[in-house]
Amino acid sequence: MTSQESHYTEIGSRLSASSGIVELMEDLGRAMSGADQGTMRMLGGGNPAAIPGVQEVFRRRMAEIVANADECDRMLVNYDGPAGSPRFRAIVAEMFASRFGWNITAENVAITAGGQAAFFQLFALFGGHGPRGLQRILLPIVPEYIGYADQGLASNMFAAHCPRIELRGDHEFKYHVDFDHLESSANEPLGAIAASRPTNPSGNVLSDIELTRLREFAAKHRLPLILDNAYGQPFPAAMFTDAHLPHWGDDLVMVFSLSKVGLPGARTAIVVAHPEIIQRVSSMTAVVGLANNNLGQAIVGPMLASGELLQLSREVIHPFYAERSQFAKNTVHREFGNRFPYLIHANEGAFFLWLWLPELPISTRELYQRLKKKNVLVVPGEYFFYGLPPELDWPHRRQCIRITFSQSPQVVSEGLRIMAEELAEINANR
Ligand SMILES: Cc1ncc(COP(=O)(O)O)c(C=O)c1O
Repeated sequence: MTSQESHYTEIGSRLSASSGIVELMEDLGRAMSGADQGTMRMLGGGNPAAIPGVQEVFRRRMAEIVANADECDRMLVNYDGPAGSPRFRAIVAEMFASRFGWNITAENVAITAGGQAAFFQLFALFGGHGPRGLQRILLPIVPEYIGYADQGLASNMFAAHCPRIELRGDHEFKYHVDFDHLESSANEPLGAIAASRPTNPSGNVLSDIELTRLREFAAKHRLPLILDNAYGQPFPAAMFTDAHLPHWGDDLVMVFSLSKVGLPGARTAIVVAHPEIIQRVSSMTAVVGLANNNLGQAIVGPMLASGELLQLSREVIHPFYAERSQFAKNTVHREFGNRFPYLIHANEGAFFLWLWLPELPISTRELYQRLKKKNVLVVPGEYFFYGLPPELDWPHRRQCIRITFSQSPQVVSEGLRIMAEELAEINANR
C-alpha cells in the first residue's frame, strides 16, 4: 500500500505519531512478553509486580466466577451500560461513603477502560478549544505522568510549572508545588488542574496541605481538580508517607485504577465526580467503545464490598512495595557510592525511583540507548517535563531518569550494577 500521509488529519497524525508513551509501551511489551523476554532487565514501564499473595486472591475470584454459571454467563454475554455495572457503581459509592465519609452515590461513579482512557476522556472534556479560547490543563508540578503528554485533542494543551526543589543532604531531594508561580497561570484560560498522587515518575506525594492549597486555588478560579490515584489510597496503597484521601467535594474528579493492584489486563478504572461530569464521561465511553470491560468489575466487586481489596492493599501490596522501594534505594547507594554525583527523589509512593544525575554530560535519552544495548531498560526523564514554556532552559529536565523497582530484586540489582558501571565510564570519559 502506498503511504496515506497526505490523508491523515492533524489530530490523527498527532495521536498516532511515535511518542514517548508509544516507545515506552513497545519496549515494555518486548521485555515482558515479546522478543526480549527473559533477556532485558526491565527497569522501565509501570507494570505491577507479580505478588503471589495477590495473584492467589485473583485466581480464587476467577474460580468463584467460573463456578457460578449464572454469574459467569451474565458477565460474558452482556454489555454493561457505558457508565459501568449499576451494582458495581453502587458498591464503589458505598465503599467511599462508609469508609471515607464521602457524600456520594452511584451517580457519582463511572467506569472506564483503564485510567489512561479516563484521562483521555477527561482531558477532551476540559482541555482544548472552549468558550474561553484554548483552555489548558494546569499541571502544578512537572515531571508528571508521561501518559498524559500526547493525549490532548488540541496541541499545546498543558500549562506546566517547575517545582521548588528541596535538597536533603548529598543524595536526596524533594519537589514541592511552587505556589508563588502557580497564581500567574490563572492569567490565561484554564480548563482543569491535574496531578498524579503519588506522582509517576518522581514518587512525590502532594501533601495534605499542598492539596488543600490547590483546592483553594481551584475554587478561586472555578476549576475542577483532577487527581490520579493510580498508585495511591485506598488501593493499591503504594504510598509510603502520611498523606490522606481528601474529604469529598464536587470540585474533585478522582480517578482510581485496578491496574496497579495487579489487574492491568482488566483495563478498568473508576472515575468519581459530580454526576454531570460522570454522565459526560459515560457518553464518551459509549461513543468510543460502547461499553467497558466487565471482568475487572466482576473480580473486585465483592472484594470492594467486603473490604478485602482494601485489606489486601494495606496488608500485602503496601508492605511489598515499601520493602522493594527500600531495597532499590539501598542498592543505588551501594552501587553508585561516591563514583559520581546523584540524588534520589524522596520515594513517597508509586513503583519508581527518580534519579537526578546533576553532572550527567550526555542527555538521558542517550543514556537510555546506551543502557538498552546492555540489556537494561530505564525511562529517560526528558519525556516527563512537557507543558513548560519552550524558551525555558532548565537543565534539570535533561538530568533525570526513572527506574522501576517492581521487578525482582535480582533484576533491580543487576540493572543498577550495570547502570553504575556505565555512568562511571561516562563520567570518566567526559
Ligand atoms: C500515574 C498513572 N496514571 C494512569 C495510568 C494508567 O494506567 P491504567 O490505564 O492501566 O489504569 C498509569 C499507568 O502506568 C500511571 O502511572
